[in-house]
Amino acid sequence: MSKVTVVGAGNVGATCANVLAFNEVADEVVMLDVKEGVSEGKAMDMMQTAQLLGFDTTLVGCTNDYAKTANSDVVVITSGIPRKPGMTREELIGVNAGIVKSVAGNILKYSPDAIIVVISNPMDTMTYLSLKSLGLPKNRIIGMGGTLDSSRFKYFLSQALGCNANEVEGIVIGGHGDTTMIPLARFATYKGIPVSTLLSAEKLDEVVKSTMVGGATLTGLLGTSAWYAPGAAGAFVVESIVKNQKKMIPSCVALDGEYGQSDICIGVPAIIGRNGVEKIVELELNAEEKELFAKSAAAVHKTNAVLKEIHAL
Ligand code: 2OP
Repeated sequence: MSKVTVVGAGNVGATCANVLAFNEVADEVVMLDVKEGVSEGKAMDMMQTAQLLGFDTTLVGCTNDYAKTANSDVVVITSGIPRKPGMTREELIGVNAGIVKSVAGNILKYSPDAIIVVISNPMDTMTYLSLKSLGLPKNRIIGMGGTLDSSRFKYFLSQALGCNANEVEGIVIGGHGDTTMIPLARFATYKGIPVSTLLSAEKLDEVVKSTMVGGATLTGLLGTSAWYAPGAAGAFVVESIVKNQKKMIPSCVALDGEYGQSDICIGVPAIIGRNGVEKIVELELNAEEKELFAKSAAAVHKTNAVLKEIHAL
């Protein structure tokens, strides 16, 4: 019997729960929200699709009742406010730090062994906050940013190549920010063929830039943060944990010397399985990529430092 809780039944949380149920990733998916009736309503609405879509997962909604989340194998935290057009993810820190810290604490009381997947923004800093405030082993906290950014990278690559996105491989490392993420063009392939041999340097540069502002572009179009790909990215990480798939997923994880960084949670490829982060994969970066990673890490360290200023740590 597997159980997953999604905290926050807004656009991202509800989408994540819906994908988890539709793909029957867990036997039970609990949605928890602070807004009276919202998660109950969304759970009931989704359960009424079960016969239409043919899934057997049970969805449960609850208003701030953490007892209902007890003994979850994985908990996804999406709580907090999303960004509005023109805002950076980093600007959300003041409001979201308090929310994420209290949610993470409540979750742990009822699911002391859960693996925690963080989606709330600024994602790298919220992952770091969860790690530090809960004092859990680092394998049990994973931020989903790189999963989403890599999916966007593959989408933009497939558009440029005019091919099926499922036949493209691409990894985004670094922070989950408009200026901190690093789509690794050198490692991207189409059916094993390096994309650098298929696209001009200018076109590839365009793809990298579109990926970096992928979230901001959607926020501009939608008037709020995106949810389909962020929710599905969260579910993708959860599936690798619950089913012990051991997929290599670009994820925000705690580094302890890897990539020359410590005391930080930031995006790198990792093997994700039943124990959460099972292995960090160290890519052979070239000098330019190393420099980009060091700059990205410096920016994430700077945002993390704000946690102390606002007394969240
Ligand atoms: C995004 O990039 C929500 O941060 C998320 O769309």
